[in-house]
This record gives sequence, structure tokens and C-alpha cells, in this order.
Amino acid sequence: MACPTAFSFIVLSMAIIAVLGRKGGIGKSTIIGNLAGEFAAIDRSVIVLDADPQHSLAAWASQGEGMLSRSVEKVKADSTGALEAKVRKVQKAADLVLIDTPPGIPEIAYQAALVADLVLLPCGPSPLDLFSLKDALAQALKARAERRSKKPRIRFVPSRVLMSTNLGRNLSSTLEEMGKKVLPPIGLRIVVAEAVANGLTVCEYAPNSVSHAEFEALAKAVDKIVTR
Ligand SMILES: Nc1ncnc2c1ncn2[C@@H]1O[C@H](COP(=O)(O)OP(=O)(O)O)[C@@H](O)[C@H]1O
Ligand SMILES: [Mg+2]
Repeated sequence: MACPTAFSFIVLSMAIIAVLGRKGGIGKSTIIGNLAGEFAAIDRSVIVLDADPQHSLAAWASQGEGMLSRSVEKVKADSTGALEAKVRKVQKAADLVLIDTPPGIPEIAYQAALVADLVLLPCGPSPLDLFSLKDALAQALKARAERRSKKPRIRFVPSRVLMSTNLGRNLSSTLEEMGKKVLPPIGLRIVVAEAVANGLTVCEYAPNSVSHAEFEALAKAVDKIVTR
């Protein structure tokens, strides 16, 4: 299903975007998959590298015949440089390479941070989420120091947010206090899980939903950063 989009994107050059997080279940795979859907909807060619040995994204893609079924590639990133080699191999064929990483294997997340232009660090509203965010941030900063570069750029993404709660409403400002810019939040919404069950992104499954509007806003913010 074509997904309507209310604005035009301006991705001009190829960009590599990775999601990192030391905690499982914070929405890493969900964010990467749905960003892929939003960018595909405006005719960007997207390759999603699933570097998590659990392969949640590949499993999601296999549930249906949506854009993820044509975009997700499993990557075995079990040796230093393996992920970068894969990125270099596919990057000419895409406007965007999106990389999903596992929570429990810091070496793979670090490889992704070494090659990415932009690292997204999702964080839920629980204090436990905030603790593990510090580890992921440290890892991304270490990669930047090793590269002696402004890259990867680093942004927090409030994830699985219940806007009806105080913790949810305050999450963006709590994250701002940690010193990195904060991107538009992604709410905890049932349509996100329903889309996965159908092998689709939210953009494909529920183009008129609030959830699609949230992922679209996130994609627009990401677009601005990588085209700077
Ligand atoms: N915004 C959301 N709304 C509803 N469910 C979500 C949302 N984000 C993630 N989930 C669900 O939470 C679980 C964990 O998300 P996932 O993206 O797999 O996390 P991670 O990749 O960080 O382990 C999955 O079942 C997923 O469908
Ligand atoms: Mg995951």
C-alpha cells in the first residue's frame, strides 16, 4: 500500500544510520523498521542491515510482503570490520543504509557506531532505561573519539512513550538534561505491534494513524540531520 506523506524529504546523499542500545525491548528494531518504511514511502532506496543475531527485523519482514521483505538483509557482524565491509558493499545501491544492532553484544553496536553518520539512541521512560542509555551514549562517544570526527552524530529518541503519564510527558526534557539533542518521541501504540504481525511498517499498515505521524516526524528530523 502506498503511504501518503505530508512533506517532502531532501535526502541528497547517501547516509548510514544506526540504532544502539544496551537494553533489549526499548524499540530499536521498531524504530529502524519504521524509519525504513517512512523513507521508502518517499521513494528513497533503503537497505536495512539486520546485525542482531536474533534477527527480529528479518522475522518481522518475513511476516508479509511489505517494503521490509525487499529491504532487510541479515548481516553476520561477528568479526571486527565485518559490518563496515557489508555497508561499503551495499551503500552504492541505496540512499540510506539503516543498521539494527543487538542489545547484548557491545562489539557489534560499536562496529555500527564506527561506520554510521548518525547514531540513534532510543530510550523508554523507566529509570532503568535511562541507566542503560548512559552506556550506549558512552559507546557512541568512544566511536566518535576513535574516528577523530564529528561522526557519528548522536541523538536520543524517546521510545515506547505513554503520553498520558508524567514519566512519558517528561521524558524528552529528562533526556535533554543528558546533553544530547532529542528527536520527536514515538508513542507506545498497539498499531505498531499490529503492523509487525502483518509484516508491514506502520506507514504501510496504518497510514492515517497517529503512530505513522510520529514516525514521519522522526524521519523528517533524521533527514534534516543527515542532509546537513
Ligand atoms: N512504539 C511502540 N508501540 C508499541 N509497541 C512497541 C513500540 N516499540 C516497540 N514495541 C514493541 O516492544 C517490543 C520490543 O521492541 P523492539 O523494537 O523489538 O525492541 P529492541 O529492538 O530494542 O529489543 C516489540 O514487541 C515491539 O513490537
Ligand atoms: Mg531489536
